[in-house]
Amino acid sequence: MSAERRPLISGNWKMNHNHLEAIQLVQKLAYAIERDDYAVADVSVHPPFTDLRSVQTVLQADQVPIALGAQTTHEAERGAFTGEVSAPMLAKLDVSYVIVGHSERRALFGETDADVNAKARAVLGAGMTPIVCVGETLDERVSGRAELRVAEQLTGSLAGLAAAAVADLVIAYEPIWAIGTGETATPADAQQMCRHVRSRVAEAFGDGPAASVRIQYGGSVKPGNTPEVMAQPDIDGVLVGGASLDADDFARIVKYRLYQP
Ligand code: 13P
Repeated sequence: MSAERRPLISGNWKMNHNHLEAIQLVQKLAYAIERDDYAVADVSVHPPFTDLRSVQTVLQADQVPIALGAQTTHEAERGAFTGEVSAPMLAKLDVSYVIVGHSERRALFGETDADVNAKARAVLGAGMTPIVCVGETLDERVSGRAELRVAEQLTGSLAGLAAAAVADLVIAYEPIWAIGTGETATPADAQQMCRHVRSRVAEAFGDGPAASVRIQYGGSVKPGNTPEVMAQPDIDGVLVGGASLDADDFARIVKYRLYQP
């Protein structure tokens, strides 16, 4: 990855851990991840909504420099949207990063690129950083349409955003066929797609935002494959699902520099 972009290592807990389990996990992470690690990388955890207040309290009380993240948001500030949570509510809990358009939200809850765009705007409007997810299905990859699909998702999800906002956001490339399957894109394939993402950002928003936008790879990231993934020039971080539920595994992922690719 490039020297001027700080790596971002994020743990997406998905629908795992109640608030008591969440407290235990962050306490273990607080112990396992050291000052030297935070000096060279940003780290975020994305627990379920019901855990956010508890995790925030632990991080604050122990002054742990792990950033708090959420997994999605509603696009409206408030209103009659039973069951939903707004971006200003998340900001009030000191949430810094909000994942938008995760493939599970897109596939299981019908979120479109327009929805993802509205959510990204809401996150930015509340002063937080969106992690905008894109990624192709296996079918799209084998039929040679992966780059086209990712370009379409980027166009729709980032439509109308200011170049300055794009410069500061995070894009996560997560090939759907690699999520939770144990299959990972080869580092070379992941690099190729992340370069493609950066080129599309350059076309739409200019070279400045393209040089500074951070691009994560996600999909069966483990301690063993992180060093090689992170060695790719256009990959600035990882979005980790399953392995982020284990404190030792996630800490080893954060410390990927200690392991040779
Ligand atoms: P896994 O790391 O479990 O494959 O999940 C990836 C993911 O979806 C992270 O958002």
